[in-house]
Amino acid sequence: MKEIILKKFAEVFGDAEGAKAYFAPGRVNLIGEHTDYNGGHVFPCALTIGTYGVARKRADNKLRFFSMNFERLGVIESSLEELVPSEKAGWTNYPKGVIWAFGEKGMEVPCGMDLLLNGNIPNGSGLSSSASVEVLTGHILRDFFGFEVSNQDLALIGQYSENNFNKVNCGIMDQFAIAMGREDHAIFLDTADLSYEYAPIALKGAKIVIACSNKKRGLGDSKYNERRSQCETALAELKQVIDIQSLGDLDEDTFEKHKSAIKDEVRVRRAKHAVYENRRTIRAVEALKANDVEQFGQLMNASHVSLRDDYEVTGTELDTLVEEAWKIDGVIGSRMTGAGFGGCTVSIVKDGAIDAFIEKVGKAYQEKIGYAADFYVVEIGDGPRTL
Ligand code: GLA
Repeated sequence: MKEIILKKFAEVFGDAEGAKAYFAPGRVNLIGEHTDYNGGHVFPCALTIGTYGVARKRADNKLRFFSMNFERLGVIESSLEELVPSEKAGWTNYPKGVIWAFGEKGMEVPCGMDLLLNGNIPNGSGLSSSASVEVLTGHILRDFFGFEVSNQDLALIGQYSENNFNKVNCGIMDQFAIAMGREDHAIFLDTADLSYEYAPIALKGAKIVIACSNKKRGLGDSKYNERRSQCETALAELKQVIDIQSLGDLDEDTFEKHKSAIKDEVRVRRAKHAVYENRRTIRAVEALKANDVEQFGQLMNASHVSLRDDYEVTGTELDTLVEEAWKIDGVIGSRMTGAGFGGCTVSIVKDGAIDAFIEKVGKAYQEKIGYAADFYVVEIGDGPRTL
């Protein structure tokens, strides 16, 4: 890949003299969905697929961007004086947002750059192609200008740029999973205080399979921000009767005892998901530590049911992929992953069942939805790096 992107960089920007190649992964969340902005736990991992990039400093303040995933857009030009989001800027709002965020944090970027990207994560699929671009950009800026930032800082800066530049109110999970990724490990992160622990994922005789619904979504135009504010309102209502900081502070029993403080039936279900999903995530990691992969799978399934019925972020496409997966022998667990409303599912499938899984789920999906899903057998990889 390094040769391919360097060659393309030379083609697009004249030559590749002094240019360097980089990589940042995508991520998949195994369990703990819509908990990261509710002070709960998440359990994501970085993937070996992600975003490749080539970058070179410029002598002026120009920013020139090119994506091999959107070749038809050609070179998109901007400059350090134009660090404001715009519709016209398309995907370049992500690297621009990170350059802007470094400046906001007192790390002014001193010169422009040429940046070429080539991602092998399907765009808009819920595997965090945008967070991958953000962390990649942060890693490049650190490498170019010697800014003293840790990988965890890269995650926080990425989230800051997404919240404040791109106006998507996302939590910390995606950027954290990507910036802190470790081969063959998932990250058990408590989003209340950012304490975390790496858990080895040794699925003896099984693999992680991602099914991409090909129903496109962007977080901005989804109901993501609406779910988030419903949870905030529910929390404010609960705070009237109980001393808590976030929904993640509650266990199931305490929630059931006090839920009547929430004055709307829909908000009760939203909050219930946040509370129960957090507890499921804690239990799932315990199950994994005890080598009980079957129990982990059951909790994944329960997570999907809750996201479908209480949080209502699945939709026919994701439900079809998951419900067809559940029918297949050798599927240990299956659920939607990421924000939902489209995007991907994640399943743990026994090695011997993977071919049948792809064939049967693929066929049923095509028949019911009218277009094809894509399948990826993935591996867990490391965080951002210079190639
Ligand atoms: C998106 C957001 C994350 C998280 C998930 C849902 O991926 O970027 O912060 O909220 O949705 O779990």
